[in-house]
Amino acid sequence: MTNLLITGGAGFIGANFVHYWRARHPDDGITVLDALTYAGNRANLAGANAVDFVHGDIRDTALVESLLAERSIDTIVHFAAESHVDRSIHGPAAFVDTNVIGTLSLLTAARAVWLAGSGRPHRFHHVSTDEVYGSLGPNDPAFSETTPYAPNSPYSASKAASDHLVRAWQHTYGLETTTSNCSNNYGPFQFPEKLIPLFLINALHGRPLPIYGDGMQIRDWLHVEDHCRGIEACLSRGRVGETYNIGGGAELPNITVIDTLCAAVDAAFAADPGLAARFPQAPAASGTPTASLKTYVTDRPGHDRRYAIDETKARAELGYAPARSFEQGFADTLAWYLANEHWWRAVMDGSYRDWVDANYAAR
Ligand code: NAD
Ligand code: DAU
Repeated sequence: MTNLLITGGAGFIGANFVHYWRARHPDDGITVLDALTYAGNRANLAGANAVDFVHGDIRDTALVESLLAERSIDTIVHFAAESHVDRSIHGPAAFVDTNVIGTLSLLTAARAVWLAGSGRPHRFHHVSTDEVYGSLGPNDPAFSETTPYAPNSPYSASKAASDHLVRAWQHTYGLETTTSNCSNNYGPFQFPEKLIPLFLINALHGRPLPIYGDGMQIRDWLHVEDHCRGIEACLSRGRVGETYNIGGGAELPNITVIDTLCAAVDAAFAADPGLAARFPQAPAASGTPTASLKTYVTDRPGHDRRYAIDETKARAELGYAPARSFEQGFADTLAWYLANEHWWRAVMDGSYRDWVDANYAAR
């Protein structure tokens, strides 16, 4: 039996991981530590049995130490972060505070509790991003674990710094760490500031779909459940001190993702006449193609052109391979957002409104 501390477990990937882990490891202890920033949502954990939720900050080292000691935590899965590149461009300091200082705080607490005396069995798994490797040209080989770091945004720079801290705590103090660097996740509970949920909800409301630059930037799309399986594989088979790249095997230009989304929304409305009554502002409600909402806007400053993951190492050492095609994963995600209107409406009642109004309405 394992006792996990899951940081950021009320966010998008963290919450999916809690549900994933609880379903497959019913006897393990799960404590979620989450500060409930704009991106944290208790509702994401509804239905997850026997999960202890602690409302707190990873930068509170004393709190983390007491959780590790009092709850006999032996595994940390560290998701908590500021995660949105656009926000990092407008307010980089919060990214350094949470992603760098927050990770330092967790490492400090883990070292104090787990390495005291003769030490105790433990694992610190750090969840990071492919963005630390920078941007690829069209013919460059995909990112491998030995690709030099070249972060370009305040977000990716802060994640790169946190990766280096984790590496140093393993190398210097012997903390037993693993790190995964994954590509763009999508799926249930994703906050509607990221491309797929933002565009889905805009499409349902007849709002513009703001495409940055020429829309030809490439990302590798990873269904969040595949990501959870990859982390599980790191925890069970990953070698201490190693990093693993986890991808979805779906390298696509943004415009292809957006065209897929528009066509899928049109098809959903054609198949279910009830959707027109629920979302009368959607172009699809009157038979107008959703693609009519596509609007090219000023590019994101410093926008990385292409990310791609070489997952040879994860396949060979962990037996990891994504199970869902983008087509299947996207269809499942659209179905989830249509079936969980109450979830995203509640999100949009909150601080999300200010962010969208301030940053997207004028474009
Ligand atoms: P998210 O923004 O949806 O959730 C982040 C969570 O962390 C929220 O619940 C928030 O309340 C919590 N949090 C923030 N600051 C905190 C603090 N100081 N103390 C405690 N909790 C705090 O993020 P996500 O998309 O679920 O990403 C999770 C992790 O995965 C991040 O580390 C991110 O860098 C990484 N990642 C994300 C993606 C992606 O596509 N979303 C891809 C690669 C890596
Ligand atoms: O690659 C992994 C990263 O993926 C994670 O580390 C980040 O936490 C996660 O936010 C994500 O970063 P991106 O910047 O790639 O994701 P985002 O959904 O913001 O954007 C995806 C692509 O779509 C990117 O090229 C920018 C573009 N885009 C995004 C938005 C929100 C648009 O064209 N218009 C938009 O309105």
